[in-house]
This record gives sequence, structure tokens and C-alpha cells, in this order.
Amino acid sequence: MASLDLISIKKSFDAVQILHDISITLADGEFLVLVGPSGCGKSTLMNIIAGLDEPTGGLLRLDGQDITHVAPADRNISMVFQSYALYPNMTVAKNIEFPLQMRKVPKEIRTERVKGVAKLLQIEHLLDRKPRQLSGGQRQRVAIGRALAREPKLYLFDEPLSNLDAQLRLDMRTEIKKLHQRLKSTIVYVTHDQIEAMTLATRIAVMKGGVVQQLGTPHEVYNRPANTFVASFMGSPRMNLAKARVVEQDGALALAFQLGERPKVHIALPERLAGLRSYLGQEVIAGIRAEAIGLATDGIAPTPTQRTVSAKVEVIEPTGANTLVVLNLAGFELTAILEPEVALVVGQETRFLLDLAKLVCFDVDTEALIA
Ligand SMILES: Nc1ncnc2c1ncn2[C@@H]1O[C@H](COP(=O)(O)OP(=O)(O)O)[C@@H](O)[C@H]1O
Ligand SMILES: [Mg+2]
Repeated sequence: MASLDLISIKKSFDAVQILHDISITLADGEFLVLVGPSGCGKSTLMNIIAGLDEPTGGLLRLDGQDITHVAPADRNISMVFQSYALYPNMTVAKNIEFPLQMRKVPKEIRTERVKGVAKLLQIEHLLDRKPRQLSGGQRQRVAIGRALAREPKLYLFDEPLSNLDAQLRLDMRTEIKKLHQRLKSTIVYVTHDQIEAMTLATRIAVMKGGVVQQLGTPHEVYNRPANTFVASFMGSPRMNLAKARVVEQDGALALAFQLGERPKVHIALPERLAGLRSYLGQEVIAGIRAEAIGLATDGIAPTPTQRTVSAKVEVIEPTGANTLVVLNLAGFELTAILEPEVALVVGQETRFLLDLAKLVCFDVDTEALIA
């Protein structure tokens, strides 16, 4: 187990800069997930941590030791790839044992380790098989087993579940989480799947264009996204974003929503957002999560952070566990997560409750979080 420091890591291929000044400090036992769209530089960063590629600038420290120019084999880091990269002619047992043999680990210890990880990953009955006799999920387990057997300081996983079908992905995700809870190892894990990131990470680094947009706990990234990119990338359904003007109404701050010729809708802001006064008269981008929108019920008074609005139901999408409802408010489409048995019809004008407790606002130009 180990701590990891990435200090101002840069990487260019030819004249193109792929990674811009990436600095992340990881404590022992942390599960860091790098998440971002395809091509944002996640694998490039992983390869630099593993030593498969050299940074153009910056430093890497593992447990306080500078490893920037240390050969991959001497870094004490194990990597699990999306393509499992098993040796096809070796049995499962041999696949797990082989990297230890290469490192001249004595036979008794090797046998012990193979037995240990096989038990942990429940692949004991597969030890004599060849990779081609295994399912995708079993192969992935073997690849993980091979990484575990080395007992490295740091584990790297690069999209390890991307080749698995949906159900198996969920199962393996839980397995990996259990494994981390049990071993308390330090892990850097890459995915383009934001749900995977949310469920696994102790901290998430959201990347775009080779720049870390935000580094934070799943809770922070979800509830206080640093900018509109993070706001829409993390969470499904994505956060509702709409432009609004900061106005004063009855002496208090409000957001005025209006698209085209439609009637304007005013929403009074809670005291928490008093900082928006410096934006008075200007536009901001307001963001609210689908679960913060509910149906207004007659006779039940709104809480201090709730506001009642009238909106038109445009689309109803039952998912089984709940119902996604797209509604139209002042010309803007918002998605709400409502109960599975919700009694609404398309075209209906209904009163909804917006809970502004977690309302966020972004600057129109910089797209950065302002309140
Ligand atoms: N060896 C290379 N030479 C030139 N460009 C590369 C090389 N490896 C990656 N890239 C480019 O760097 C960018 C980031 O790639 P990558 O790190 O694989 O992204 P991700 O893993 O997030 O999908 C891409 O635009 C890719 O084309
Ligand atoms: Mg990649």
C-alpha cells in the first residue's frame, strides 16, 4: 500500500499537448477514479503512472520516492487492462504465477499466493483451465488475480469492465468494491462510465481535454460540480441546466426564466444564494438535479427551500424503479424523477415543486460554479 503524488504532469505527442499540468495527491488506501469522455487522456496518464510512457514534464512520487524515471518493472505497480492480456498457452494458475516467477519469488510463496487470490476471487475451480476455456468475466477475474498476486504498492485499472456485458459489469463492479474494502489497497481506476466512477471512488478526478476539471469526493462532484461540464457529465439523468437572469423581486433575489416569447417564470432564491447579488441584472446558468423536482401536493405547504411552479408534461418514461418525466417550464425542458406509479398524462399542466436546497449557478462565460 502506498501514497501517490502526481506533480504537474504534462505530456505531448509531437507538438500536441495531451495532458496539461495534472496534479493529484493520493493518500494510502484511496480509490481514485479518473473519469472523462473517450480521448481525454485517461490512458495516457495511467501509462505514465505505470511507467509505460514518460511524461514531458512533472514528477511522480510513490510513497514519497521519485519514480518518474524508474523502469516499469521496478515500480511495484500492477496494471489491469481492458483487454485482459492473459497468456493463451498458460493455465489460469500459471498466468497468475508467471509474473511472480519473473520476479524470482520463491516457489512456495508463489504457490501460496496463487491459492490465496484464487480463493479470494472464487476461481479455484478454474486454475487448470486455459484462458480460451473461460468466459469474459472469468478472464477478467484472472487478470485481476494476476495483479493481486504480486501484492504491489499500487493497482492501476484501465477500463477493466468495458468488455463485459451489462449485468456482469455490475457484478464485477461490486466485486472490485468489496476487494478494495477488504484489502484497503491504493487504486487508480479509469472509466468513461460516470456511474462506475460514483459507485467505486473515494475520490473522482473528472477529466476533459487533458485537464482535470474537478477533483473531489463523489458527493462533492455530484452536488457541487466545478463547472457545467462536470454538472452534465456526472449523473444520470444529467443535471437540468437553464439560463436565467438574476433579478430583484419584492426586495429579494430571484431567477427569471424565459425562452423566446413565452411567459416569464420567477423563482425566488433562498438566502444561501445571496452571493448572486453581484450578478444582478446578468444572466447565469442555473442547475437543478432531477431528484430535486417533485409533484406539488394540495394541502402540503412547501418547505423554506421549495418553490411551486406550473409546468407542462411533455414526455413520460417509466424505468420500473421510478418514472422520468420531461416537463416544460417557461420553454426549458427539465427532467424530473418521480414515483413509478405517478398519475400524469402528456400535455397536462401541473404544479411541481422545485427544491432549491441544492440549486447551483454557473457563470455564463467561464461556465464555472459561482454559487
Ligand atoms: N502514442 C500516441 N501518439 C500520438 N497521440 C496519442 C498517442 N497516444 C494517445 N494519443 C492521443 O492522446 C489523446 C488521449 O488518448 P488516451 O489517453 O488514450 O485517451 P482516453 O484513455 O481518455 O480515451 C487522444 O487524442 C489520442 O489520440
Ligand atoms: Mg483509454
